[in-house]
Amino acid sequence: PDNIIRIPVVVHVIHNNAAGIIGGTNNTNISDAQVISQIVVLNKDYQHKNADSVNTRAAFKPVAANCKFEFCLAEVDPNGNSTTGITRTYTSKANFTIAEETQLKSLAYWPSDQYLNIWVCDLRGTPSTQLLLGYSSQPGGLPGGDSNDPQANTDGVVINYKAFGTVGTLFTKYNLGRTASHEIGHWLGLLHTWGNFDSGYCNQTDYCTDTPVCANAFAAASPACSDNPPVKCTPDIARMIENYMDYSDDACMNLFTQDQKTRMRSSIELSPRRNALL
Ligand code: ARG
Ligand code: ZN
Ligand code: CA
Repeated sequence: PDNIIRIPVVVHVIHNNAAGIIGGTNNTNISDAQVISQIVVLNKDYQHKNADSVNTRAAFKPVAANCKFEFCLAEVDPNGNSTTGITRTYTSKANFTIAEETQLKSLAYWPSDQYLNIWVCDLRGTPSTQLLLGYSSQPGGLPGGDSNDPQANTDGVVINYKAFGTVGTLFTKYNLGRTASHEIGHWLGLLHTWGNFDSGYCNQTDYCTDTPVCANAFAAASPACSDNPPVKCTPDIARMIENYMDYSDDACMNLFTQDQKTRMRSSIELSPRRNALL
């Protein structure tokens, strides 16, 4: 069935603002408005209501999909009380790397069979001077995916507070909320368009035939949103830089494909924990 699949979401704002001030410039304690702006983007991107879908090149328009996922901030918390779907937790720790995942997620967590947990913090790469926009756990059971579901208490996505939503202090190229669209794609079992592994050769797959094979992660191109210099694997078939699962700038992304839709919706059926969310 092609019904709307509704996912309850909790956003955990993990911040370093000892005074508890919310919002403003460079504040990890981001505003409710910033959180809500992200939910709006998710619902546009996953229902093909994003205005920039007009930028999808003609060759790819036929495969662009309305994935029919709806994301809603939770209205009831795990204790049955009403909630905004936003939690705020102060920590003296200024930022978090992937290696500090358990520490981060133990600061705030709601049962992952009832909510999609999104943690927002000052996220860092390795070493911690490096930028990291986001990362996600992947459901089990899909071709090319993990064989098992992730641990319950680490299931969910983590997003850099400067790449979350469309208002607040944001990275210039990552100011349209597409990092969460991308990471939730992983959470629903999608691989990057070049496959699991950045091989540099055209020998990997994302198990979606309607996303053209490509060799590696998208390197910043000039002019913006061009696939030039193209790393083409098939002559005359452009790289699908419009895909949310490429590494393009936010402004260049505007689609998921039909096969990606099928894969994401299957992940709900194959993963008992995802299925329990419904
Ligand atoms: N996992 C990727 C990273 O950490 C996210 C890429 C998101 N891309 C984007 N245009 N928002 O870099
Ligand atoms: Zn990714
Ligand atoms: Ca493909």
